[in-house]
Amino acid sequence: MNEKLPPLVSGGLPVLGHALEMMRGREDLFRRGYAQHGDIFTIKLGPQYAVVVSGAEYNKQVYTQTDKSLNMQEAYTFLKASIGEVLFTANKETYTNQRPVLQEVFRRERMAAYIQAMNIEVQRWLDGLGNSGEMDITAEMLRLTQFVAGRALIGAEYEKELGAGFWAQYADISRSLDPLLPPHWPLPKFKRRDRARAAIRQTFQELIEKRRQHPQQYDDLISTLLKTPLKDGTVMDDLTIVSMFTGLLFAGHETTAGQAAWLVTLLLQHPEYQAKVQTEINTLIPPDTALDQDMINRLEHIFWAIEETTRMRPSADLQMRTVEQPLTLGRFELPKGWRVIVNAANSHFLPEVFNDPQRFDPLRWSPERGEGKNPFAIVGFGGGVHKCTGMNFAKNEMAVITALLFQQFKLELLSSEVHIVYGNGANHPSVVKVRYKKRK
Ligand code: HEM
Repeated sequence: MNEKLPPLVSGGLPVLGHALEMMRGREDLFRRGYAQHGDIFTIKLGPQYAVVVSGAEYNKQVYTQTDKSLNMQEAYTFLKASIGEVLFTANKETYTNQRPVLQEVFRRERMAAYIQAMNIEVQRWLDGLGNSGEMDITAEMLRLTQFVAGRALIGAEYEKELGAGFWAQYADISRSLDPLLPPHWPLPKFKRRDRARAAIRQTFQELIEKRRQHPQQYDDLISTLLKTPLKDGTVMDDLTIVSMFTGLLFAGHETTAGQAAWLVTLLLQHPEYQAKVQTEINTLIPPDTALDQDMINRLEHIFWAIEETTRMRPSADLQMRTVEQPLTLGRFELPKGWRVIVNAANSHFLPEVFNDPQRFDPLRWSPERGEGKNPFAIVGFGGGVHKCTGMNFAKNEMAVITALLFQQFKLELLSSEVHIVYGNGANHPSVVKVRYKKRK
């Protein structure tokens, strides 16, 4: 291979290259690449060459090049048929035009209302558990994060407004994601996706009309999208509003569900740290009290656990870009059309950045220890201009779930082995069976 190109990892198959390995267990592939060549190397995914980088220095270069010589939307083209042209699937001009609206949706002042929605839904879920029983945390987090998203984005009437079939329709969209097959092939899963998108579009048309007719009665995502001007001074059309909602669900639902499930699991697997979290909850959160932003800000141990979960079990473990014009990365020259991949498998476990990296050790995030201070050291919420807009939303939601769950229930972990299940959108733990009992 040309010396100007990063070295190729061993073991690729004819034609397929490393594509199968990438699908089956990308962590192992990335770790092998790192062991062979260090922080920059090449893999081959079918005909596509992709350069995998690790470590804060390279991560920063990639994130700060995005929308210059690295293109985000091309690498995520396979999502377009599912969610339309919004956020990371839109071209640069459309993305820039939509950005003020996205900023409005996640404006700091809106967080209080989102936190209130989180409290209501988490408490409703806990009340529904009864006094004792068994449950699968992975499945429960998928359900709970739907309720939170519904209430936070559509309002108190979300169940009636979205209708009984909504989440099954959304699941048809989510399950249709396929980075390999052309999205318009007449396959059953793509047909189900298109039917689901049409049904959601119809539901939303009614919700949009209601908000248009009675704007003063609503303050939710749809009403915000209807009235907030885009950069060019116009407002979003109806189809884009539907796409924006589906896009936000795609960005935020399975990611938060997976991360929250890992957070609870890791706490249960580490009782000595769980005890610190329990003391924090008992000290700072009086029973029957809804959490507000001030209270949440005081939860240090929970937030260090959230950071450590993001490091060890990121639900978004890689990000992709496409080289738009030849790019110098370190001592290499990447040709146009190549992919670049930022990954957690290596970056989050570098011993020169994280002391004893395989150990679950949330205290490393305390100011006294201050590990991983470099903002590009971990990539679980991305970085640079496209860094996750919903990060604070997600972290606050995980904090509310952890605080209220452990405050009100004693949990015992029954699953002895929990492993990562990779999805096309986000990762999550395998089944996490727990036995629970309401505290007196
Ligand atoms: C634990 C939960 C979450 C994780 C791990 C996560 C992770 C990420 C990552 C890694 C990116 C960057 C993608 C890239 O650079 O290629 C991203 C972007 C984004 N996320 Fe999240 N996310 C989470 C929750 C949410 C939530 C709850 C929302 C909204 C409700 C959300 C909305 C977005 C949006 C809109 C972007 C695109 C930002 C842009 O391109 O400017 N995310 N997220």
